[in-house]
Amino acid sequence: MVNPAEVDAVVLVGGMGTRLRPLTLSAPKPMLPTAGLPFLTHLLSRIADAGIEHVVMGTSYKAAVFESEFGDGSKLGLQIDYVVEDEPLGTGGGIANVVPKLRHDTAIVFNGDVLSGCDLGALLDSHATKDADVTMHLVRVGDPRAFGCVPTDSEGLVTAFLEKAQDPPTDQINAGCYVFKRPVIDRIPKGRAVSVEREVFPGLLSDGLRVCGYVDSTYWRDMGTPEDFVRGSADLVRGIAPSPALTHQRGEKLVHDGASVGPGALLIGGTVVGRGAEVAGGARLDGAVIFDGVTVGAGAVIERSIIGFGARIGPRALIRDGVIGDGADIGARCELLRGARVWPGITIPDGGIRFSTDV
Ligand code: GDD
Ligand code: MG
Repeated sequence: MVNPAEVDAVVLVGGMGTRLRPLTLSAPKPMLPTAGLPFLTHLLSRIADAGIEHVVMGTSYKAAVFESEFGDGSKLGLQIDYVVEDEPLGTGGGIANVVPKLRHDTAIVFNGDVLSGCDLGALLDSHATKDADVTMHLVRVGDPRAFGCVPTDSEGLVTAFLEKAQDPPTDQINAGCYVFKRPVIDRIPKGRAVSVEREVFPGLLSDGLRVCGYVDSTYWRDMGTPEDFVRGSADLVRGIAPSPALTHQRGEKLVHDGASVGPGALLIGGTVVGRGAEVAGGARLDGAVIFDGVTVGAGAVIERSIIGFGARIGPRALIRDGVIGDGADIGARCELLRGARVWPGITIPDGGIRFSTDV
């Protein structure tokens, strides 16, 4: 058995991220409100819940934003150290960069954009029982091409690591959480950009280190795209995704204090309505993420979309699979569908845009 109090947690946030797209929202993505809490709160509370006490947050940007939210970690029952890269060092470089802050012989590293239900205690125990140098949390997904494909043999030993392969041999992928024996971390080159996926893991395998897979089938989602973000948020609201940080009743909607919802408005699909937001009667919100201070006009329809802080959605507008930037003003009856992104502060007049498949 591993004593979680003798394990460092390392949380990676930063980089340019191949799959990160500008969300047209001002908050850094790891801090976007997700079921009412900054996204990273869900991960940090899961770390605390597992009995891990010390966290090092390795970031390449906006460290002050994280520090002002989480401080020394005591509110979550954690001790958090922050390490900032002068320029993005990649996932491997980010891990190497936190070495001076590590306290223990075992570290568990997390990609900071993943929502997961994996039992961290069981993962740590598997690592110890199998005497692994590295243990990787692995999951199965429908389309492995966007991830690191990780085949294993009959004993669960990792046989290859194929990042973003076009023709992956298995649907089993790297879930973005690894347990490392400390000396393995010390091997990662310092002071330059290093990819843990493209350089470190293939190197460990060719050097014959013992890299084990821990296959898990609990909830898992990378929140790196707006589509995944709205799905993950809805899953938290509905109780499909677990988070020890959430205390509210699970259900079809989460309406924050100070928000108002008019008569006949329909809120379903794990919709979140932020503080001070106003949703007029007859609006239909399905899987919508409505940040604080948003106004939604009568009869507007918002499906699987993010509406940024203080934006205004006019009466009978239709937003589906979109992201509306902070403070944007979408006129009445506008139609924004299928990946529409509106930059912060932009105004679209009433009836100013519609969507049509006619030629
Ligand atoms: N500190 C720091 N510095 N963190 C970084 C940097 C960097 O330069 N670059 C990326 N990160 C962080 C990101 O913020 C994210 O939390 C994590 O490292 C992974 O980066 P992504 O950009 O989200 O990568 P991905 O989603 O395309 O792929 C990774 O995650 C998949 C699982 O979600 C890979 O690890 C894949 O192998 C994996 O399947
Ligand atoms: Mg990611």
